[in-house]
Amino acid sequence: MHIKSISSYAEYAHYLDKSPTEFKELKDSLTINVSEIFRDPTVWKAFQTRIMPTIIREKIKTSQREVKIWSAGCADGEEAYTIAISVIDALSYNLRAFKIEIVATDIDLQSLDRASQGVYSPTRLKLASHSVLQRFFTPVAGGNLRLCDEVKRLVTFQQHDLFTSAPRSGFDVISCRNVMIYFSRELQQGLFRNFYQALSSGGYLIVGKVESPLGEYATPFKCIDLAERIYQKV
Ligand SMILES: C[S@@+](CC[C@H](N)C(=O)[O-])C[C@H]1O[C@@H](n2cnc3c(N)ncnc32)[C@H](O)[C@@H]1O
Repeated sequence: MHIKSISSYAEYAHYLDKSPTEFKELKDSLTINVSEIFRDPTVWKAFQTRIMPTIIREKIKTSQREVKIWSAGCADGEEAYTIAISVIDALSYNLRAFKIEIVATDIDLQSLDRASQGVYSPTRLKLASHSVLQRFFTPVAGGNLRLCDEVKRLVTFQQHDLFTSAPRSGFDVISCRNVMIYFSRELQQGLFRNFYQALSSGGYLIVGKVESPLGEYATPFKCIDLAERIYQKV
């Protein structure tokens, strides 16, 4: 409203109705796309060393060879690629024995475009270890780094609004971090209901450090790690 020199909500609503480009600009400025590769490193340590090995043991026991993960609200792809790198490290030489499917979704098309490119500035990579940078990234023009195809090929990006039904079901893990804090309690409850339905039995839900399953959906999720906000569908 300030940029357009509009002083009342009614006038701005009227302007929005008339201007489809303004609607797009408003949406882009409301979606906060800040993220980093290995944002909150301890979460991904727990995911790699505890959650993934448990999932793999269970898959081997039940002769299943597919692991399905959803990064919901993936911004520029940092979280989805962090998951992919953690999966590669957790599976090690077993990687080829499994079909890994990481579905990464966001409402913001510009973010998804940047995500598919997999090119990041050093500020988005400052939490990645030296060995991760050496192994999975190569320097490109402008001081940026490009992610290698071995990681990129594990991730499929798709536009999706979290307030519609899940892009698929039967996920072993859903990560929705630092997205729900922007929504009201009622909206968050609806999202937890969607995640519960989209998870396989015993599947894991990872949320941000200040987020947690609320209300009627507090019970069907068991807290596996309170500090890292990892929950399990029961
Ligand atoms: C702060 S980023 C979080 C990125 C990443 N999950 C992380 O923790 O670093 C929030 C993302 O949620 C997306 N988002 C906001 N509302 C959404 C919606 N209704 N459906 C899907 N994505 C949404 C935004 O576009 C933005 O990319």
